[in-house]
Amino acid sequence: MTPRPIEKPDRARIKTLLTKNKINRRVSRLAARISRDYAGKKLTVVSVLKGGVVFFADLIRRLEVDCSVDFISLSSYDGKSSSGKVTLLSDLKESPKGKHVLIVEDIVDSGRTLKYILKSLARKGALSVRTCVLLDKVSARKTPVRVDYRGFTVPDRYVIGYGLDYNEHYRGLPHIAVIED
Ligand code: IMP
Ligand code: MG
Repeated sequence: MTPRPIEKPDRARIKTLLTKNKINRRVSRLAARISRDYAGKKLTVVSVLKGGVVFFADLIRRLEVDCSVDFISLSSYDGKSSSGKVTLLSDLKESPKGKHVLIVEDIVDSGRTLKYILKSLARKGALSVRTCVLLDKVSARKTPVRVDYRGFTVPDRYVIGYGLDYNEHYRGLPHIAVIED
């Protein structure tokens, strides 16, 4: 069967929400706070793939604490809408037992993905777990979840760029944008 073509929204419909400079300034401030809070400790920074990877790469380069990295991959979105079900695609490579873990996510929407990760890390005996989220769609929350470090609060609109995709398009945009209907 011929695969269904995936729509790629054209550039004219893409409007900037957060500029590169604004994101850079915010990431530096978050990194400074995290570095202060974890001073003298060894930190494990977990990147939630794939969307969180650009934010993660920028953040860890600004951290002044000794850190190791790990990756976890989950899926909850189907196109532009949340499926309501979180699937673990690939788990951490190292055990989080006895470690201070910081989860780095691109965006919290319903809260289900972050909640799933928090539960899993607690079950595996992490010493402490905090969350660092670049974007928070506060009004879309379906389940309460703790955000310890937040970049920006954003409206309940589908956003792309700086790691975030629309059907695997536009992850490489250097800024964050919305798609106009
Ligand atoms: P949640 O489980 O509903 O909180 O959704 C979290 C995941 O869905 C995020 O890690 C993103 O990968 C994806 N997601 C949620 N909202 C958006 C969006 O506006 N643009 C791109 N991805 C999104
Ligand atoms: Mg994500």
